[in-house]
Amino acid sequence: MSYYYVVPPRRTVVVRRIALAALALVLGGALLASYALARPVTVEVDGSVVEVPAGAVVADLERMKVFKAPPGDLIAVDGTVAKRGGGAPARLLRNGQPANPAERLYRGDVLISRRGADVPESLEETRLPIAYETSVRGKGSLSTVTRAGRPGVQLVKRGVVSHLVVDSVVLVEPVDEVITRSGPKPGAKLVALTFDDGPWPGFTARVLDELEKAGVKATFFMLGGQVKRYPQIARRVAEEGHLLASHSLGHKYFSKISAGQIKREVNGGRNVIRAATGVTTNWIRPPYGAMDVEAWRVVRASGAKVVLWDVDSGDWRKPGEKVIANTVVKHVTPGSIVLMHDGGGDRSQTVKAIPILVKKLKAKGYVFVTVEELVNAKGVTKAPAARAAAANRPK
Ligand code: NI
Repeated sequence: MSYYYVVPPRRTVVVRRIALAALALVLGGALLASYALARPVTVEVDGSVVEVPAGAVVADLERMKVFKAPPGDLIAVDGTVAKRGGGAPARLLRNGQPANPAERLYRGDVLISRRGADVPESLEETRLPIAYETSVRGKGSLSTVTRAGRPGVQLVKRGVVSHLVVDSVVLVEPVDEVITRSGPKPGAKLVALTFDDGPWPGFTARVLDELEKAGVKATFFMLGGQVKRYPQIARRVAEEGHLLASHSLGHKYFSKISAGQIKREVNGGRNVIRAATGVTTNWIRPPYGAMDVEAWRVVRASGAKVVLWDVDSGDWRKPGEKVIANTVVKHVTPGSIVLMHDGGGDRSQTVKAIPILVKKLKAKGYVFVTVEELVNAKGVTKAPAARAAAANRPK
């Protein structure tokens, strides 16, 4: 029996073995390389061991917030810190050399951080307004703006962040506002009775009855809150020909509340009176007569006209109707504005004082007018408006 045993050519066998070995080498190398690539890298950061993924760069360590040194500060123009950490970032060293954030990390790298440099804030030039002052001059129950205020302008060089000024030049000087107080000065013997803090149930009606009997028109400084509660009384005051005026919404000290609150008090009082009576009034008497410079500004900006008084009847002390009447009669001069009350409590003494003081003042030649008539009667030397005269005719 015979058979063939086919032997491949020797050259072919050698080629195959080399190919196999090469393949094994390539595969093994790739395996090793991928193992090395995937293996985390251990480095030292500011004395601590930190492990980062293979292929990580310096910037990755920054994102991990493992460096201990802080950035520098932003320094204001006066040398204080304007913004902590607002300066240059921390300096990073890798193996003793400045580190580049994009550099790849290798096992055993030593990284150290150093506090960043402080940076001075930059300067800017800007124009700022210079506020004007308001001064109140003189005395008297009325006020007018005798000089309008105007803000000035200054050119300042200042720190962009701290806003601390290092240099400034005034370009335009401010003009201060002047409010001058004075009393009405009619040449004739005119006097205005005014009643505050109403409408008040009971007493406002009795005051109206007495005024009607005496033929006198007066001015009522009403509180918005009271008008809301008793709109029908407010309407009666208007219907009987008296002047409606505001005493604010809630009787707050204007000098103790904010500008925004003063505005609400002024506008609120006026709005409530308008809603209840249809009368739009621009006359206002601030509660307690308390006005500071800010209050003057706010009230003036609202268009309201401030009315105080020069004769305080003292009726709020309740000294008896005779004392009230005598106080008024003694102090009234031509153009006087008399403070009395129809609201705020028991006003029966005020009610009883009205006929007494009206009779005595009429005997002295006085004519009773509203505040508006009094203000408009500036310089009037003879009998005032026909309406006032007619209203004052005894009945
Ligand atoms: Ni009052």
